Amino acid sequence: MDDLKAKFLGQISQADDEAALEAIRVTAVGKKGEVALKMRELGKMTPEERQIMGPRLNALKDEINSALAAKKAALADAALDARLKTEWLDVTLPARARRTGSIHPISQVTEEVTAIFADMGFAVAEGPQIETDWYNFDALNIPGHHPARAEMDTFYTHRAEGDNRPPHVLRTHTSPVQIRSMEKQGAPIRIICPGRVYRADYDQTHTPMFHQVEGLAIDKDISMANLKWVLEEFFSAFFGTHVETRFRASHFPFTEPSAEVDIQCSWEGGTVKVGEGDDWLEVLGSGMVHPKVLEAGGIDPNEWQGFAFGIGIDRLAMLKYGIPDLRAFFDSDLRWLRHYGFASLDQPTLHGGLSR
Ligand code: DAH
Repeated sequence: MDDLKAKFLGQISQADDEAALEAIRVTAVGKKGEVALKMRELGKMTPEERQIMGPRLNALKDEINSALAAKKAALADAALDARLKTEWLDVTLPARARRTGSIHPISQVTEEVTAIFADMGFAVAEGPQIETDWYNFDALNIPGHHPARAEMDTFYTHRAEGDNRPPHVLRTHTSPVQIRSMEKQGAPIRIICPGRVYRADYDQTHTPMFHQVEGLAIDKDISMANLKWVLEEFFSAFFGTHVETRFRASHFPFTEPSAEVDIQCSWEGGTVKVGEGDDWLEVLGSGMVHPKVLEAGGIDPNEWQGFAFGIGIDRLAMLKYGIPDLRAFFDSDLRWLRHYGFASLDQPTLHGGLSR
């Protein structure tokens, strides 16, 4: 029995993982292990011998079991120590600086524009970027043969031969949202619709995708005077200074009369400054909504009238933040985005002066 004890305790102290310990346990104290075989021999002994050998065998079994348990705990401790040595962490180190993203100037300006018009009671409306040609053209009094269709460099979606769904376009302006809003809510209306628009055009001041904000106000006695006041209020709030405006007679199929609006600016020193000097910069188209457009939107032109306007958001951002090239807006160049971008908590508000 001393041999057995010496053999197994020796093996246990040599074992270097849990699997080895388990193998020793099976051969030593398992059901068919060596100690169990010895126990079976007790039956052949005399009662006197059994009284001595029984307790000794039990004691041997206990000793082996506790040596196994102790070794198992020691192995676990050693494994933990090894992990702690390699995985320790100095929680007193200063945190690594993390790059945060920035708000794109277009998003910022859209928020600014929305805040100003919201203050004047305009709600935000939206429409799809893929439009039927009816919403994009016909409903806005631009029939098939009208030169405005050709002038807009429209992207048409592909149609397989025999597909007789109406032709779809990438909307060339936000004006179709006028029609959708009229259909949806009827008169009176006071909305703006900011969003993406598309035209096949590319140079320093044109990209195939750009942004507009449409305005529409319909009520019983709205006139050009209201339009002028709203736009003057808007420009002064947006640029943070009094801005003179100039209304030039123009033509759009969807308004009658129509006006293009210029804002006062100076070009001194090669950069453009809004609200000073005696040059003019064209920034939007506007007018009184054409009766045919009201009709297309399901509104009775004998009862209601209103004004509409369309402003280029990208143009506004370039003017306000002195960004010279429109194409860079959509290049996703991180250096540009970090330079011209806004902090995410820089929320534009009227009382906060709208911008940095
Ligand atoms: N839709 C015109 C464009 O994209 C802009 C415009 C002009 C919108 C006059 C209007 C408007 O609502 O009344 O060029």
